[in-house]
Amino acid sequence: MKTLEILGKNRSDTYTKTRICCRAVIVREGRILLSHEKATGWRLIPGGGLEDGETPEDCVVREVEEETGLIVRPAEQFLTLHEYYEEYRYTSHYYICEAAGEGQMHLTDAEKDRGLVPEWLPLPEAVDLFSKHESYAAVSEEKRGTYQREHTALLEYMNYLLEKTLPENIFRLLDGKAYVPDHIGLSGSKIMIFEDGVLKIVPCSMAREDTVRMMKWLEGKIPVPKVIACERDDEYQYLLMSRVSGQMSCDEYFLEHPAELLNILARALKMLWTVDISGCPRIRDLDTELEEAKSRVENGLVDVGDAEPATFGEGGFKDPEALLEWLYANRPDYEPVLSHGDFCLPNIILNDGEVSGFIDLDDAGVGDKWRDIALCHRSLKHNFDGTYGGRIYPDFDPDMLFDALGIDPDRDKLRYFMLLDELF
Ligand SMILES: Nc1ncnc2c1ncn2[C@@H]1O[C@H](COP(=O)(O)OP(=O)(O)O)[C@@H](O)[C@H]1O
Ligand SMILES: [Mg+2]
Repeated sequence: MKTLEILGKNRSDTYTKTRICCRAVIVREGRILLSHEKATGWRLIPGGGLEDGETPEDCVVREVEEETGLIVRPAEQFLTLHEYYEEYRYTSHYYICEAAGEGQMHLTDAEKDRGLVPEWLPLPEAVDLFSKHESYAAVSEEKRGTYQREHTALLEYMNYLLEKTLPENIFRLLDGKAYVPDHIGLSGSKIMIFEDGVLKIVPCSMAREDTVRMMKWLEGKIPVPKVIACERDDEYQYLLMSRVSGQMSCDEYFLEHPAELLNILARALKMLWTVDISGCPRIRDLDTELEEAKSRVENGLVDVGDAEPATFGEGGFKDPEALLEWLYANRPDYEPVLSHGDFCLPNIILNDGEVSGFIDLDDAGVGDKWRDIALCHRSLKHNFDGTYGGRIYPDFDPDMLFDALGIDPDRDKLRYFMLLDELF
């Protein structure tokens, strides 16, 4: 448990009065419970003053119930903060708490006047909100100080979680820097974005052993994140890499400027195709892919619910077994190139009109040229037809990719690689 001191500008060197408060950090599905004072717009981490004869744990439970109506169980204390202002020392004990049931809100008259309501805010938004503490300096010293305190507490909370869960080497490299959790990862991975690095945590069962080797081989050939460290424990792989600057190619700006986007993506694909593949440490040819697809089918790992609507069922394949059989029987000729393997828009980061990074390289390797084209085509289709972002861009036709590439679409191969991907 850590103790920190915040020294107010107007503090007296010797304090004569003390106040003790206990506060609760309650996070559920990435959202933190805050008390929102509607009349003032303030948000606070729930908690309040320790009463005579009360333990800090009792205090935090009582205060959270009174303020928010939630009954909590304090799991552990991660921080004590002392703030010094004028003749006071204010001490806040911060607890990580778990929700344990529904209770009854009991607001004081002052709290009622301020319109106090409980509010679950995404944790990154709460960090961002409290980080603006200096902007209140001219308006209210109390608000500035309170937001600085809550900001300090949330950064400590996030760092505390990291220290508990990360391998020592990775935690040491992160050096207590602030991060924002990213929720884009759809594959069960956790992503934490730091100022200059990204930590990707993937269950070992889904992480490929040789991704680091592949990424290092790619360094200097195409823009990819630089591997800083990679560790494994019994459950997870922790990959710490440099952060690529720019926007994902599914950023709204690019969806509103499709001609620009298509030209960049076409150049990105061609950039991959010009890499000399001799010595590439990973082969993702059809033999390898079908072998892996077979194992996934046999182990019941294919999620039929995740497939395109036409793939399975009426007019499509009966089940993954039938699709696998078809894929074995209809293998197209092989056009080996360096293939990204998961060439969808969130995995291609753009900056200043060029690719600044190919990321998510777990499936990269020597593979068929049409594998990336097919996934790019499908990703374009879904980003523009509203499947992902909800917004429909009516004038877009994913076939414009072929104009940008200057090649004719090979419909059979497009279909083949799209179908193969259904088994992954
Ligand atoms: N090195 C990186 N630099 C910048 N952003 C990254 C980096 N790695 C991941 N991200 C961000 O996190 C998101 C998810 O990471 P990704 O590796 O694609 O995980 P997943 O396998 O879950 O798709 C990316 O779409 C991107 O926005
Ligand atoms: Mg990705």
